[in-house]
Amino acid sequence: MAGFDGDITKIRTSRLQTLFEITQSIVGILDLRKLLDAVLRSAVEAVHAERGLLALLSGKGDDLEVGAAVNLESKELDEAADISRSTLRQVLRGGDAVFTQNAQQDAGLMGRTSISSGGIHTLLCVPLRSGDRVVGALYVDNRTGESRFTEEARVFLSALANLAALAIQNARTYEKAAEENTLLKRELRGRYGIENFVGRSDALRPVHEKIEAVSGSDVSVVVEGESGTGKELVARAIHTGSRRAQAPFVAISGAELPENLIESELFGFKKGAFTGASIDKKGIFEEAEGGTVFLDEVGCLPPGVQAKLLRVLQEREIRRIGENQPRRIDVRILCATNRPLAEMVKEKSFREDLYFRLNVVTIALPPLRKRAGDVARLAGHFLKKHQPAAGPKRLSAAAMTALEGHDWPGNVRELENVIQRAIVLTPGEEIGADALGLAREAPKAAAPEGSLREALEGTERTMVERAMRETGGNVTHAAERLGIARQQLQRLLKRYGLDRSAS
Ligand SMILES: Nc1ncnc2c1ncn2[C@@H]1O[C@H](COP(=O)(O)OP(=O)(O)OP(=O)(O)O)[C@@H](O)[C@H]1O
Ligand SMILES: [Mg+2]
Repeated sequence: MAGFDGDITKIRTSRLQTLFEITQSIVGILDLRKLLDAVLRSAVEAVHAERGLLALLSGKGDDLEVGAAVNLESKELDEAADISRSTLRQVLRGGDAVFTQNAQQDAGLMGRTSISSGGIHTLLCVPLRSGDRVVGALYVDNRTGESRFTEEARVFLSALANLAALAIQNARTYEKAAEENTLLKRELRGRYGIENFVGRSDALRPVHEKIEAVSGSDVSVVVEGESGTGKELVARAIHTGSRRAQAPFVAISGAELPENLIESELFGFKKGAFTGASIDKKGIFEEAEGGTVFLDEVGCLPPGVQAKLLRVLQEREIRRIGENQPRRIDVRILCATNRPLAEMVKEKSFREDLYFRLNVVTIALPPLRKRAGDVARLAGHFLKKHQPAAGPKRLSAAAMTALEGHDWPGNVRELENVIQRAIVLTPGEEIGADALGLAREAPKAAAPEGSLREALEGTERTMVERAMRETGGNVTHAAERLGIARQQLQRLLKRYGLDRSAS
């Protein structure tokens, strides 16, 4: 073992057994404080010491940090620190053990106040090594004259210190990984929390209210909306805002995989259940234990899977393919769909019983064209999100006008892509309208003939007709789209004789 300063053959067999037992009991301790305490207590007990101290060098500097102490009260620790400040430092610096059977007569230790005033008779201090670095030291002493440490105890303690150093390194690595994990989770929460769902338009108010309302509970939610409207973002925000936030969020899309693969993804399988099942595998429901399963494109799940899913929801347990034993699960289900599920139920392509189980709450995401004012907010958000390290960019007034005037078939995702592309294509600071690459407006038609009034009425009628057509004759929606009150639209419908076909 690197740096082992003793001959292991000097250790008695019974002591080797003790060493083995101590190692067994400390290797599994991942909490650094507990580990240091266990190491020191074992050492004190094994060599029949009266008191003990385990000190570590902190991070980079050579600051000593007391990791554990036995029979040294905090009052005495200063005094002990005095012992250590000389003895420990000597060990830490030189890397060799300090061992004395009669401290009072040891010429090298005579000057140390703590040794004379503390009445220490015998002391032993060995280094803790990690690789070829000394990272700490283990100190034990006795104040009674009778029991003195032996050479064999020194070799034993050195061996223990080397093993402890490995365990300490292990615990430190684990602590670091756990810290990183916490940080990553926090970052993830930052990325997926509701604060990242941008938009305050009136059309989004019910969305915000519902997200807030369902976060505190375990109800199933279906998020409906056109492509790119933020369905997954909403599902993640619900998860992140729920008591399940620390557990996994696992997504699967009903549109991506063939039936048999979806089943094995969802429920897992037993080794040998089918050709290719070479290992036991957990399904998504088990992976997400304690957390959330997000069923994207839930409307596309094949009928067989719909039936199995219904059973899972009723019984709250799953069976891996090829296994009879059910396994209890604790997950929340969130779904997303492009097409309203109610329609699919009517068409009989989605099971009604499953629909009622999943659809406790529906959150309908409006398309971007209905979110007046949000385009500018989102554009600003994406500009920040994709800001290049080299320097900030901003949108010119013309670019902002073009964004706001655009009809966004791809919704928020399309807007995000447009901004991202424009950032890359713009060498300077200001992103112009051209860099957005949006389809230009149709060239202006020649100005109409006749009176201004006739021209305005012609435009008014065309726009009302189009809004009614595109909203399927829904007066409320058409009025919203035209930016006028419902009553005003009704007057216009009457004036142009369009009210007979309106619902
Ligand atoms: N309100 C919003 N605020 C900020 N970013 C948003 C918002 N809505 C959507 N996005 C972003 O737009 C992109 C598309 O969102 P998301 O994947 O959630 O949409 P979707 O409805 O699931 O799309 P699809 O139907 O294509 O699966 C993501 O990058 C997401 O972060
Ligand atoms: Mg999606």
